[in-house]
Amino acid sequence: MLAARARGHEVTVADPLDFHIVVSRGRPAMFLGNSPVPHADLVIPRIGASITNYGLAVVRQFDLMGVPVLNNAIAIARSRDKLRAMQLLTKKDIDVPRTVCARTPESVDVALSFIGGTPAIVKLQQGAQGIGTMIAETPQAVTSLLETLWAMGQDIILQEYIAESKGRDYRAIVVGGRVVATMRRQAKKGEFRSNLHRGGAGVRVKMDKRYSQAAVASVKVMGLEVAGVDMLEGRDGPKILEINSSPGLEGIERTSGVDVAGAIILHAERFLEKRKERRSRSSRRDVVIEDERRHTRVPHARARA
Ligand SMILES: Nc1ncnc2c1ncn2[C@@H]1O[C@H](COP(=O)(O)OP(=O)(O)O)[C@@H](O)[C@H]1O
Ligand SMILES: [Mg+2]
Repeated sequence: MLAARARGHEVTVADPLDFHIVVSRGRPAMFLGNSPVPHADLVIPRIGASITNYGLAVVRQFDLMGVPVLNNAIAIARSRDKLRAMQLLTKKDIDVPRTVCARTPESVDVALSFIGGTPAIVKLQQGAQGIGTMIAETPQAVTSLLETLWAMGQDIILQEYIAESKGRDYRAIVVGGRVVATMRRQAKKGEFRSNLHRGGAGVRVKMDKRYSQAAVASVKVMGLEVAGVDMLEGRDGPKILEINSSPGLEGIERTSGVDVAGAIILHAERFLEKRKERRSRSSRRDVVIEDERRHTRVPHARARA
C-alpha cells in the first residue's frame, strides 16, 4: 500500500471476506458492505491460506467483471495445492523432491519405498507457513500420522526428506518473470522447517544462476505474475518445494535490502500498460469483457491501483 501510494496511486485495502459476490446472468457484480465495489484499475490479490476458496471466488469475480488482477484465480489455485503444483512442474522437467500420494494404510509401505523410506516428510496439500509440514522417523509414525490426517479429512502428500539441505532453503521472489530478491533461510536448532514463521533466520545471499532459472521457470508454469519460490539445495541442484502466490514481504525486504513491494507496484504498472496495448488491438473476447465491465462500473470512483 505504501509503495503504491509513493508512486501516486490511490489504494484501498479490502479483506476478501468483506466482499459479497453477486452471481447473475450476464452481470457479474460484487459489493463491499452495502455498496457496489468502486472502480479499480487493478487488483493485487493477497489471499490467506485459511480462506483460499472464498478468496479465489473474489479474485475470479473481479476477473469476470473485467478488472485486471495481478495473479489470477487459476494460477493461485494451481500453486496453492502442493500436489497439483508438483505435477505441473514435473511435466516441464523441473526438479522436485520425490513425492507420492497414497490413500490407504496398506499402501504406505509401497509409497515409502518410492521415496527411499524414512525419515519422510508428510505434508498437507494446502499447508502454509510451515504448518502442515511434518517429519516422520519410522514407517509406523508415517502410518499413524496418515491415519490421523485422513480421519480429519485432510489431503496429504508423502515426500522424500532432502537431508543434505540441513534445514536450509532458498526463498526467491519472482516478479514479472524476473528474480527481484533472494534470501537463504536457516531453520532454528532442532527444527527442519526453515519458515520465518517457525523461527527460521533469513540470511542475505546471492543465488546461483541455476536456482534463479528454476525459480523463474516454476513461476511461469504456475502462470503467476508475483510469487515466492521455496527451493531446497539438492545434491544435483535446485529442488522446488512450493510456489507462494502471496509471499511475505517484510522478512525478505529486511534480509535482502530490496524494495520488493516497490518492484511489485512497478510491475503492476507495466502489466496494465501491456494489457491496454493488447486490448487496443481489440479481440472479440475483449469486447465482451468490456461490456460486462460497463454494467458493474460505478461512476465517479477513481481508485487507481
Ligand atoms: N522434502 C523436504 N526435505 C527437507 N526439508 C523440507 C522438505 N519439505 C519441506 N521442508 C522444509 O519445510 C519447510 C516448509 O515446507 P513447504 O513445502 O515450503 O511448506 P509451507 O507451505 O508450510 O511453507 C521448507 O521451507 C523446508 O525448510
Ligand atoms: Mg514454504
